Amino acid sequence: MKIKNIVLGVTGGIAAYKAAELTSRLKKEGYDVRCVMTKSAQQFLSPLTLQTLSNHPVITDLFAAPTTQWNVEHIALAKWADVFIIAPATANIIGKMAAGIGDDFLSTCVMATKAPIVLVPAMNEAMYEHQAVVDNIALLKKRGCFFIEPAVGKLACGDSGKGRMEEPNVIVDYLKRLGRYDLTGKKILITAGPTREALDPVRFLTNHSSGRMGYALAEAAYERGALVTLISGPVNLAAPTGVDVIKVDSALAMYEAVLARFDEQDAVIKAAAVADYRPETVSAEKIKKKDGDWLVKLVRNPDILAELGGRKTRQILVGFAAETNDVEANARKKLVAKNLDLICANDITEAEAGFGTETNRLTIYRKDQSKISLPLMSKKQAADLILDQIGQLWQNE
Ligand code: PMT
Repeated sequence: MKIKNIVLGVTGGIAAYKAAELTSRLKKEGYDVRCVMTKSAQQFLSPLTLQTLSNHPVITDLFAAPTTQWNVEHIALAKWADVFIIAPATANIIGKMAAGIGDDFLSTCVMATKAPIVLVPAMNEAMYEHQAVVDNIALLKKRGCFFIEPAVGKLACGDSGKGRMEEPNVIVDYLKRLGRYDLTGKKILITAGPTREALDPVRFLTNHSSGRMGYALAEAAYERGALVTLISGPVNLAAPTGVDVIKVDSALAMYEAVLARFDEQDAVIKAAAVADYRPETVSAEKIKKKDGDWLVKLVRNPDILAELGGRKTRQILVGFAAETNDVEANARKKLVAKNLDLICANDITEAEAGFGTETNRLTIYRKDQSKISLPLMSKKQAADLILDQIGQLWQNE
């Protein structure tokens, strides 16, 4: 999607002054910007400033005479927007949006828009951490709003912490990336990380997956407009913004979590390294060391992806293959056996590829026998190319 028209909503906080630089930068990048200010925002910044920088009248009042020939201005502006940004976004506007309150121009206009909404919060750290704000942000993310998280630093009130509105250049960069908004509304389920198969309360079997590949996919899919569910094994990564993250431990728990959500998905990408086997029994108490060896019997875990392959109706299914040898033959075998549309193979013996790395070198095999060999690149770049492939499959439908 091409972004040309931006509605910039400005609410009442000291960071409102940054809206002037943001408007100026957006104009320089070639966007057409129309500004809406709440009553409180006007206490911090003059509408004349934004009017001069945007070259458009600034809307400040729901009941004022229209600034254009449009009849119902808040609806017309809501439709005009390719993207709707609110920067700074106070706890108040976040709360109103979460509760569905429309009591001024900005809150009614943003409620009426079908454009992607980007909120750039700025407030005191304690307010940002307040449970009501946390819950409202989580709800808005679930509804598909994008958030550019506040930066950490000295706040206007004298406190230090997370609450500073992100800088205008960061917001402009974010919008440029959001310009590739081509997966709007698609429901994509992604799995990431390893699984842990318990032997007793202190020991488990696992593998080297860091979760980076799956998290990169989730982040990229969200940035392109998808509604993303990330089912993650135990990893040390922060939850990607806007993504519904469900933490699981074992392969069986991942199986339950994936299957419970499969029917509503448009695509599933299984980047997780799922244990094929688990100990037959799990001791409730720590197993004590004894003389001699300890023999453990392992039993098969369900193959989640194969199960999805058997159940799929309209869903695109993408698997990964982590291989040490005969990469192409093994990957192709899995593509067919699990009834996949694509499989992304990584040779985990290669440097900088596979487990734990920031980069990957993937070959994507398609159902129609064709393949694309990607060079070494960041996992985020690889994620975008995988999503391009899925997008193409949807286009060809
Ligand atoms: O997490 P990182 O550190 O970033 O590393 C990324 C990665 C190497 C883990 C990732 O790129 C990768 O290759 N993931 C799949 C690893 C794997 O388990 O491959 P596999 O060949 O064993 O399984 C094939 C496919 O079946 C995978 O999509 C896997 O998720 C799925 N599977 C496997 C077993 C099982 N019981 N259920 C499954 O769904």
